Amino acid sequence: MTSLRNDPHERGVDTGSIFPPLTHDNAVRAQGSLLIRLTDLDERGVREVRTDRHGVLAVGVTPDGTPFAVGNTCRHQFAQLGRGRVTEQGCLECPWHRARYDVGTGAMTEGPKGRLFGFKPYSALIRAFGSRLKLATVRVHIRDEAIYLDE
Ligand code: FES
Repeated sequence: MTSLRNDPHERGVDTGSIFPPLTHDNAVRAQGSLLIRLTDLDERGVREVRTDRHGVLAVGVTPDGTPFAVGNTCRHQFAQLGRGRVTEQGCLECPWHRARYDVGTGAMTEGPKGRLFGFKPYSALIRAFGSRLKLATVRVHIRDEAIYLDE
């Protein structure tokens, strides 16, 4: 079970590994258009899902119940976003330096944080880059307690 940290200088998600979250972690295998059952999401609210059509996506649900599926690779240093978490505000937060993304548009809304990468001019530069080079977004819906690709 992963645990969440709140210290502003720590990574957002403790993956239990000394290695950065650059690799996939037990991605769920999609079954046709069925990406993931809601019961397969933990408190992080997002998982990596391997699909035939789109490769590995970060798939989850925001606190208001909106499902999403977006590209899995952070624009900062390529952490796998499906290993991150969904914030109370409904953003997808990177597991490494906690950049945040709007899951509706795929744009980075907050740059990286922490002692090194949280340096404001640097963080703002990465955010500007990530707001232009958006994550891919894939249209999905919830049916029968599961997230499906739209037809
Ligand atoms: S790799 Fe995502 S914020 Fe640094």
